[in-house]
Amino acid sequence: MKPRVAILISGRGSNMIALIEAAKKPEYPAEIVLVLSNRADAPGLTSARDLGVPAVSVEIRPYGRDREAHERAINAELQNAGVQIVCLAGYMRLLTPYLVKEWAGRMLNIHPSLLPKYPGLDTHKKALEAGELVHGCTVHLVTEKMDAGPILAQSHVIILPEDTEDTLAARVLAEEHRIYPEALAKLAIESDFKT
Ligand code: GRF
Repeated sequence: MKPRVAILISGRGSNMIALIEAAKKPEYPAEIVLVLSNRADAPGLTSARDLGVPAVSVEIRPYGRDREAHERAINAELQNAGVQIVCLAGYMRLLTPYLVKEWAGRMLNIHPSLLPKYPGLDTHKKALEAGELVHGCTVHLVTEKMDAGPILAQSHVIILPEDTEDTLAARVLAEEHRIYPEALAKLAIESDFKT
């Protein structure tokens, strides 16, 4: 049986689409069974449904400031769907230790920089301002420290003299779409999710 994967998003979900499309190939070693957003208006929810993947939103509002209660509701959706691996793909909320511990070793994230350089936001701007010659993206396991877990895959992108944030972001995004499905496939093959 292929491991069952959920993708957590907050927005457009282009990485989510890349993962769903990769997993549609019969030989892909994981199955995308659920897309979950913390925002009901995330455009990615519609894209997921259009691609035939169940998509739900679990908003924070009913839980007020209780972030862990929000994550318990998210976790209930993941358990109900029999999920075994979680992929964060533009999920724009910091996780509490509760959800991170629940999914330790089984939760991945994609980040648009060559970690450990430039964790957090505005990575393309920071790389350009620092005069970097090379930038890129990273898939890593999620740990309690933001954008800092063990690295599973990276891709390097050469910065061109004429690059703007937008042109650089577009080339990095194309690499994200390539390495995220590869990293998930590798984890799915190498790990034993029956336990
Ligand atoms: C991507 O750049 C990803 O690396 C970052 O957030 C962005 C999400 O884009 N974590 P999308 O929603 O996958 O299009």
